[in-house]
Amino acid sequence: MNPSGIVAIVTGGGSGLGEATARALAAKGAKIAIADVGMERAENVAADLGGIAVKCDVTSAEDGENAIRTVSEKLGGPRILVNCAGIAIAVKTVGKDGPHPLDLYRKVIEINLIGSFNMIRLFAAKAQELDPLEGGERGVIINTASVAAFDGQVGQAAYSSSKGGIVGMTLPIARDLSRAGIRVCTIAPGIFKTPMMAGLPEDAQASLGQQVPFPPRLGEPSEYASLACHIVENQMLNGETIRLDGAIRMAPR
Ligand SMILES: NC(=O)c1ccc[n+]([C@@H]2O[C@H](COP(=O)([O-])OP(=O)(O)OC[C@H]3O[C@@H](n4cnc5c(N)ncnc54)[C@H](O)[C@@H]3O)[C@@H](O)[C@H]2O)c1
Repeated sequence: MNPSGIVAIVTGGGSGLGEATARALAAKGAKIAIADVGMERAENVAADLGGIAVKCDVTSAEDGENAIRTVSEKLGGPRILVNCAGIAIAVKTVGKDGPHPLDLYRKVIEINLIGSFNMIRLFAAKAQELDPLEGGERGVIINTASVAAFDGQVGQAAYSSSKGGIVGMTLPIARDLSRAGIRVCTIAPGIFKTPMMAGLPEDAQASLGQQVPFPPRLGEPSEYASLACHIVENQMLNGETIRLDGAIRMAPR
């Protein structure tokens, strides 16, 4: 799909990978809607791109419905959904303070996995009503997993579960939506230089970068955005998870 003139919703688009993707899609002429809980940053990014920001907690059915409705009314029917909203935690299954708090495990699954699915189902219901474009295509969905879906580290039980769920649902959702001409791909990033990572001390970031075989550095959000744009543009990409990680395979810790 050529993103020019196409309406794109980017969840978590106020920061990091989502922000970079919103900017890259806007540079290709897409009309951008940022769906985020952090409204100040979302509104700044949207204003920069001549788009709109919608307050949307991706875990809420009501917020999701409102986001799709608002975007459709203000910009037109959306054909691109990029799911970048997410959180990361590091808690061991049994730690010094006892067993992993169950509500924390639930929260990570709720935001990263259920939140992604919530937005997918609502987006797809709307996109399937739109007229088909070239080749019968109506929409493209891009999810964000992580290399932690495959090689989760100590403390990543909840995070890896949530990302493994995203990898697992990619193919069946692509199959479900194939009749409507809606494609679904997932990007599994390695370690990227975003505000999520900026919390780590400089030396920890440098040491993580050195663990990447090549290039030996953290990924740039623009590199994630560039792959997201390619997925939008390449109609044969569907039902697949693509690692974007400089060949890193995470060690246990
Ligand atoms: N940065 C990395 O190294 C890395 C690696 C692998 C995967 N990821 C994944 O990429 C995605 C984006 O991460 P990032 O590094 O850009 O993080 P980030 O913290 O910079 O951005 C995340 C955005 O999601 C939003 N958000 C959080 N909870 C939300 C909710 N319930 N509803 C709506 N928005 C919500 C935040 O407000 C924020 O704008 C996440 O899913 C993360 O797990 C990041």
